[in-house]
Amino acid sequence: MTQITMALTKGRILKETLPLLKQVNIEPLEDIFTSRKLVFSTTRDDLRLLVLRGSDVPTYVQFGAADIGIAGKDGLLEHQGDGYYEPVDLGIARCKLMTAVPKGAEPYRGRVRVATKYINVARKYYAQQGRQVDLIKLYGAMELAPVLDLAHEIVDIVDTGNTLKANGLEPREHIADISSRVIVNKAAMKTKYPVIKDILDALAEVVSAS
Ligand code: PRP
Repeated sequence: MTQITMALTKGRILKETLPLLKQVNIEPLEDIFTSRKLVFSTTRDDLRLLVLRGSDVPTYVQFGAADIGIAGKDGLLEHQGDGYYEPVDLGIARCKLMTAVPKGAEPYRGRVRVATKYINVARKYYAQQGRQVDLIKLYGAMELAPVLDLAHEIVDIVDTGNTLKANGLEPREHIADISSRVIVNKAAMKTKYPVIKDILDALAEVVSAS
């Protein structure tokens, strides 16, 4: 039997992923949210689930440690990896990748400092704009950086906009629309094609029906 390993992204993407998987008859055998395990057997003997940080999902799939992954487009843009296809947009965990600045801020005239965890995306974006900026890598709580003068602006995910608002910031430039995607290791797509195609078709069908 062909064994499939599927890497999921924990956090809010996972909450929207599990109902989709359930609709294609893939269910973990125990509660992913309360367990400390990282690997889960499922209702399918030939499929196991990994639960990873979003930024690690493309890495596992790129190197074939997982055959299939579900990851946010933001992490995929940042990863800039090779070695996988991106065949299905699940349309879940939708949000936007944007720049944000203190509310009402005038354009800063000196060399702008930008705080973000999306260093590669930001580098590319500002280069396309012809703007020279200094990038500061953070791992979370980007919204704090302008408040404490660590940076003049940030690049981050905006969903409801509540986090920006609560910290006196406002969104400015739209960089990309984000949703969760299915990615597939290129070698696995060949060697495990029939099983992977069935899973992709089933997921695509659920997505188009919703
Ligand atoms: C994301 C993002 C913002 C927030 C935006 O963080 O970094 O902080 O959500 O959502 P909002 O516009 O609805 O307020 P998340 O909670 O996913 O945690 P993270 O910092 O670990 O990514």
